[in-house]
Amino acid sequence: MLSVGVNGYGTIGKRVADAVVAQPDMELVGVAKTRPNYEAERAVKNGYPLYAAIEERAEKFDAAGIELAGLVEELVDEADVMVDATPSGIGAENKSLYDEYDTPALYQGGEDADLVDTSFNAVSYTHL
Ligand SMILES: NC(=O)c1ccc[n+]([C@@H]2O[C@H](COP(=O)([O-])OP(=O)(O)OC[C@H]3O[C@@H](n4cnc5c(N)ncnc54)[C@H](OP(=O)(O)O)[C@@H]3O)[C@@H](O)[C@H]2O)c1
Repeated sequence: MLSVGVNGYGTIGKRVADAVVAQPDMELVGVAKTRPNYEAERAVKNGYPLYAAIEERAEKFDAAGIELAGLVEELVDEADVMVDATPSGIGAENKSLYDEYDTPALYQGGEDADLVDTSFNAVSYTHL
């Protein structure tokens, strides 16, 4: 069973998390966000452990009544692999965090290709 963490729970991160949960050989360790907004509520409603991406903002989740599982460092430590779906530039900043815990990371399209050793994209053609 591969343990997956998702950093950034927006348009892409939500779909990645749902896809991970649908896999028989993966488990979702949790998702990380900076703000206790509707997306954070959605994560909790889905039963996805929610981690604070910025420690100083953790108390805002408490104030909003949204339960946290911990800080993003704990998520990265526990995960076998991280999927970074944060806004462009944030993923590059997060690389040192993933390296610190020796956790491999996938960056979902917002970063320059030279951030990583391997880059790929999937193209789908429709023939009408
Ligand atoms: N959507 C697309 O079709 C598409 C296509 C190609 C590439 N991309 C790229 O993929 C990346 C993500 O796109 P998206 O559409 O999913 O963006 P999005 O909907 O804005 O989601 C980004 C998420 O990251 C969170 N976030 C912000 N700062 C963070 C931090 N420091 N740590 C953890 N989470 C943080 C944001 O919310 P909080 O601040 O509330 O936590 C939000 O939940 C972007 O770089 C984008 O350029 C997107």
